[in-house]
Amino acid sequence: MYKVGVLQFEPKLFQVDQNLNYLRKMLEDIEADLVVLPELATSGYVFNSLDEVKSLAEDAKTGKTAQLFTQLSQELDCSFVVGFAENDQGKLYNSSSLFNPNGEIFTYRKTHLFFEEKLFFTPGDSGLNVYPAKGGVKVGMMICFDWQFPESARTLALRGAQIIAHPSNLVLPWCQKAMTIRSLENRVFSITSNRTGTEINGDKELYFTGMSQILNTKGEVLTSLTKTEEGINFVRINPSDALSKQVTEHNNAFTDRRPDMYQT
Ligand code: ACM
Repeated sequence: MYKVGVLQFEPKLFQVDQNLNYLRKMLEDIEADLVVLPELATSGYVFNSLDEVKSLAEDAKTGKTAQLFTQLSQELDCSFVVGFAENDQGKLYNSSSLFNPNGEIFTYRKTHLFFEEKLFFTPGDSGLNVYPAKGGVKVGMMICFDWQFPESARTLALRGAQIIAHPSNLVLPWCQKAMTIRSLENRVFSITSNRTGTEINGDKELYFTGMSQILNTKGEVLTSLTKTEEGINFVRINPSDALSKQVTEHNNAFTDRRPDMYQT
């Protein structure tokens, strides 16, 4: 069995060091194989200017978030997926990285930007890829609003993802329900880690919906958090459940597909 966790908390806007210290304390005693954290977990979300994002965006390999999670991953022998603001030679991305105990770092850049993210971030160019986490389990990353586009989860599943790691900062009310269908139609586990709280910056204010969840390959909720609580919920799963796409004796969710019928 493979022990996976979903972490929910309220990041503090612009307080990268404080957020990293808080996360270190939340995580210091855990035993798990893979834990997923929210989108932009170390920076906060409600930005008012490019300069604000630039002031805290980090290099994916050498930034403060990468340093802490490289260290935690090795110390705890656990893979982590963490959302952060990335600065790659002046281009800003809403990104997440998979950190592995052997020091590997794989980075995903959010494909479908939501709302005012379009003012501050460059649309992701990494593509929706699948990477080995601890134990070789195949993990695909998508970030928050990517849920709206079924192609995101479908692409990850077709590329072999057994678990979809889904760092989020959700403000619309539909994602948690939509992800049950993404898991079901693709026969994959999914871990949606959302943040909590209301964030205010100047005259902007956003409320985040919590209710982080881990779903099995039938879209069933294995564990979920409330709208407001902070914490980490764990479940043990068998990732190989995601290898079979058989629906009935005569139906397979992948090989029954008719892509030639889907052209627009
Ligand atoms: C979102 O994509 N952060 C809603």
